[in-house]
Amino acid sequence: MEAVMSVSRVQKIGEIDRRLYGSFIEHMGRAVYGGIYQPDHPTANDKGFRQDVMELVKDLSVPLIRYPGGNFVSGFNWEDSVGPIAERPKRLDLAWRSLETNQVGVHEFAAWCQEVGAEINMAVNLGTRGLDAARNLVEYCNYPSGTYWSEQRIANGQTEPFAIKTWCLGNEMDGPWQIGHKTAAEYGRLAEETAKAMKLVDESIEVVLCGSSNSQMPTFGEWELTVLDQAYEQIDYLSLHQYYGNQTNDLKNYLARSVDMDQFISGVVAMCDAIKAKKHSKKQINLSFDEWNIWYHSTEHDQTVKPWQVAPPLLEDHYNFEDALVLGCLLITLLKHSDRVKIACLAQLVNVIAPIMTEEDGEAWRQTIYYPFMQVATLGQGIALRPEITVDTYATSEFDTVPYLESIAVLNEEKNELVIFAVNRGEEEMSLDLQFSDLKIEEVIEFSEMSGYEIKAVNQAGNEQIKPVSSKAYEHKENQLNCKLKPLSWNVIRTS
Ligand code: AHR
Repeated sequence: MEAVMSVSRVQKIGEIDRRLYGSFIEHMGRAVYGGIYQPDHPTANDKGFRQDVMELVKDLSVPLIRYPGGNFVSGFNWEDSVGPIAERPKRLDLAWRSLETNQVGVHEFAAWCQEVGAEINMAVNLGTRGLDAARNLVEYCNYPSGTYWSEQRIANGQTEPFAIKTWCLGNEMDGPWQIGHKTAAEYGRLAEETAKAMKLVDESIEVVLCGSSNSQMPTFGEWELTVLDQAYEQIDYLSLHQYYGNQTNDLKNYLARSVDMDQFISGVVAMCDAIKAKKHSKKQINLSFDEWNIWYHSTEHDQTVKPWQVAPPLLEDHYNFEDALVLGCLLITLLKHSDRVKIACLAQLVNVIAPIMTEEDGEAWRQTIYYPFMQVATLGQGIALRPEITVDTYATSEFDTVPYLESIAVLNEEKNELVIFAVNRGEEEMSLDLQFSDLKIEEVIEFSEMSGYEIKAVNQAGNEQIKPVSSKAYEHKENQLNCKLKPLSWNVIRTS
C-alpha cells in the first residue's frame, strides 16, 4: 500500500502542553499499596516507596498525576490522610468496596511526585462532601502560613506550600455509580460555588469541571451544556473520560476506536464554544481528557474479587500488542487536538489499567502500552503540525471511513527536530512518502518500530518481549523521505 504525507510548518495545530502526557494514581486496587508504595520491598526507600517503580515512572516523563481518584475521591475525607501515620483512620472505601488505611496521604504522595518529577492534579470530593472541605484543602496545600489549615500543614512537616496548580471539581458526577451522584443542575451549581471559594483562597489555581463519564452516557451533551452554562466563568477546563476495548475481537474495528475519540473531542469543543457564544464570553474553555486508556481485559475477573480487602488486585489489565497499536492511535488523536486538549491523564499509572506492573516479591515491569506512551511523552514536545495524508480507507461495523495510516508530526524548534508518529492499521506493508515543503530535513536520527508480534502477545515480568526496535527501512534523498511501515505497526521517525 502507498501513502503520501506532506508536512508544513504553517499547518500548526497548536503548542503542545506538557500536561497532555499526564497520568493518574487512584487509591484503589494495587496502585498505591503494593504499587508505588511497598515498605517491605527490597527496592523501597526510607519512605516506603519502591524505587524500581519510580525509575520506570521517571522514564515515562509524566509531568502531572491526577490524585487521589477517580471514584474513590467521592467518599474521601482528605483530613484522614494527613498527620501522624499511626493515628490515621482505616476507612471503608465504598467506591471499590475496599479498605483504605491512609498510610499514604497528601504529604507522602507529594514527596513521591517530587521524586518522579511530576506535579499533582488534585481532585476534591464533591460526592459526600463539598465546598467547605474543598476550600480547606486548598488552604492546607497552598496557603503559605499563619492560618488554621496552613499551620496544620507546617506542623505536619511541610513548611513550604505544596503549590498545587490544577484541581478537579469532583469525579464523574454524572455517573449513577458515583457516591453522591448529582443531576447536571445540582452539580453545576455546586461546582461553580466550590470553584469560586477555592479561587478566593488561591487565585492562581486552575480548575477542571466534570464533563460526562463517557460519550455513551444517556445525559451526554445535555450534561455538558448545563454544567458549562452554570459554571462557565469560574472554571478553566472541562473533563472528558473514555476507555476503549476489543470486546468483540474485531481488530479492524478496534484499531478505529481513535476515530471515536476524535469525534468525542470535536463534539465537546463545539459545546464549550456554543456556551462561550451564548454568553458573549471572552474566555475559552479548554479540555482535560483526564481519564483515557484501554480497559476491558480485567472486567470479568473483577466480579470475583472479595470486598473489604486492603489493596485487592483490581483492574489489572494485561495489555497485548494490538492494545499498544490502539494506544498509539489514541495518542496521535490527542496530539491532533492539542490546540484544545491541554491536559490528559493516561488512566492509570501502576497496576490498575497501567503501563507499569509490579510483582509483590519481584520486579516492576513494562506493559506493551508503556512504549508508545513513553516515546510520545518524551519526543512529542513543541508544535503539533497537521499533515496532509493521502491513503486508502476502510469501513468497519462502527466506522465508515478509517484511514489505514494514522499519523501526526511534531516540530521541536528548540532541538530543531521533526518527529513523526505513525500507525499502519493495515495488514500489508505501507510505503510512506514524506514530503516537507518548507522544512529542511538533514538526517534521520532514529526510526523505531513496534511490529511483527503476534497480535495477542503480552509482556510479563522478566519477559518484556514487545518493545520498539530500530529500523533501517527508509531512504532519505533531497528533502524526501520514504519509510516502509510494516503491517500493523507503531512507528516513530525522528528527523532533524
Ligand atoms: O480509572 C478507573 C475508574 O474509572 C475511575 O475511578 C473512575 O473515575 C472511572 O470510572
